[in-house]
Amino acid sequence: MGPSFRWGDDMTEKTLLRLITCGSVDDGKSTLLGRLHFETGSAFDDELALCGDDLSRLVDGLEAEREQGITIDVAYRFFATEKRKFIVADAPGHEQYTRNLVTGASTAELALVLVDAAKGVLTQTRRHAYLCRLLGVTQFVLLVNKMDRVGFDRERFERIVADYAGLGTEFTAIPVSALSGDNVATRSPAMPWYEGPTLLEHLEAAVPEERPGGAFVMPVQWVAREGRRGFAGHVVAGEARRGDPMRVMPAGTRATLAEIRLGEEVLDVAVEGQSVMLFFEEEVDCSRGDSVTAAGYPPDVADQFEATLIWMSGEELVAGRQYALKLATQSALASIHTPKYEIDVDTFEQVPAHGLALNGIGVANLWTDRPLVYSEYEHDRDLGGFILIDRVSNETVGAGLIRHALRRSQNLHLQTLTVTREARAAMKNQKPRLLWFTGLSGAGKSTIANLVEKKLHLLGRHTYLLDGDNVRLGLNRDLGFSDADRAENIRRVGETARLMLDAGLIVLAAFISPFRAERRMVRELLGEGEFVEIFVDVPLAEAERRDPKGLYAKARDGRIPNFTGIGSPYEPPVAPEIRIDATATSAEEAAEEIVRWLETPPRDGEGDRA
Ligand code: ADX
Repeated sequence: MGPSFRWGDDMTEKTLLRLITCGSVDDGKSTLLGRLHFETGSAFDDELALCGDDLSRLVDGLEAEREQGITIDVAYRFFATEKRKFIVADAPGHEQYTRNLVTGASTAELALVLVDAAKGVLTQTRRHAYLCRLLGVTQFVLLVNKMDRVGFDRERFERIVADYAGLGTEFTAIPVSALSGDNVATRSPAMPWYEGPTLLEHLEAAVPEERPGGAFVMPVQWVAREGRRGFAGHVVAGEARRGDPMRVMPAGTRATLAEIRLGEEVLDVAVEGQSVMLFFEEEVDCSRGDSVTAAGYPPDVADQFEATLIWMSGEELVAGRQYALKLATQSALASIHTPKYEIDVDTFEQVPAHGLALNGIGVANLWTDRPLVYSEYEHDRDLGGFILIDRVSNETVGAGLIRHALRRSQNLHLQTLTVTREARAAMKNQKPRLLWFTGLSGAGKSTIANLVEKKLHLLGRHTYLLDGDNVRLGLNRDLGFSDADRAENIRRVGETARLMLDAGLIVLAAFISPFRAERRMVRELLGEGEFVEIFVDVPLAEAERRDPKGLYAKARDGRIPNFTGIGSPYEPPVAPEIRIDATATSAEEAAEEIVRWLETPPRDGEGDRA
């Protein structure tokens, strides 16, 4: 666990309210924050932001990015009055605003929406408010700022309020001047027509919505292994007492709670919000990513969901591609279906979508490679929110809010078969493998794969060749050449090859397979050493000179828009098992080299991948 912040004793007695500021550039956010600090006599305390304890896992995930050098501009400010303490997430409203806003809003209870009295409600204001609501913020304060610049004009204020009311959220409106302090901490003599509370009065009186308490859930962050095994984590819901019967999910194993520790202190009860270490009476199998839950009310577990996705990357969402998913402390690989629809944040209409671009919000089904303990986001922000990470760049590309699990994911069970793949392979006296040929169109993949298959056949091996053009005429007839279709093409081929490997075959696959993400996905579908990546390497100029099917000429003519190498990228393998220099090597030589490699594969540490 990272360093954890503990509120001083005097502070724990005051209730905490988490705020987020939103609005567009120049609407006076910094002035307002400065004013709040001044009025309350609090000091700036940015460091607070990095103290994991008080912020959600969603933030932790994004914090991990910060360590990787990707900047997130959310600053957390802190101030306190006699009655209450506040954390304000200050999310700047520039281009990467979604990323910032999601980070800040996922823990906030109340949003301060700033509007410049001279400018009125802008598109940005609408977007911010929509996102805040989506992320579970329930209270909104519309601050019509810079009232001094419009002569403290009541009509102007009321017009803006009416305009904002059109957005459908309940809110309290306050006319203020952050610069001069009017209606921030003290009532403005310049606006006698305003009879409501000042901003600070409102904030002190605001009652955060009670979220349903729920049964005990603690995702395990790490396991202490010296002496007794202890399980550390942050309690995201409920409470548990010494002696309580618990369960380790998703396995469902039962165990009795023997001891609870908070640092050095031994507790009788662990409650929501604490970071504790739990010990069980029994020896139990429990590791990072599992969750300790109350035995009687185990939380839901599923591997298929419908979720709202908020896209934060300049690289579009590719349906079918695998992304790393983090939910609380759980990690999985997730594949996302084509979104059902996207939400137009200006009109709030649902519009058809193929993918999602930067700042896009849509709803899609997704499935994960393992079951996850989850909750619906509207019930629990910790167990209902997740982030998606691009596996190649390590960038956080999206955030997701679980709407519900798909029923169909709950009643499928892998059939264990009696005749095993080992038995089938042993009968054929061969090691099943997948020889994956990747490279530009015209590199010679099919030609070489064909020759390799012929040679293996002569050696008495039982093989099968899957070739891009052929598969696209049959199984994958419905797919084109968009990024998402190519990802789906490779996914299906990978799954087909896996079945064939199960049957004991040596499979050869010749596909451009231009993206690292999908090649990696296929590699991970198979067992250790079964995926042999063969990069048929040829410079684009050479492939284009050969142009065996005349496709490059057509592509240059603009008649094939997404042609690999011209209108669509090719990502070369970083560490293929075999690289064929197709300009210097004949197809026959290449085939010989591959067969030699297969019959006497290099020992560990000798191969290209070392
Ligand atoms: S992949 O990108 O999805 O792996 P695949 O290997 O199945 O491609 O199919 C590539 C073959 O489709 C090429 O050899 C070529 O004959 C044909 N083709 C048609 N349109 C395209 C295109 N836009 N880009 C690449 N290949 C294309």
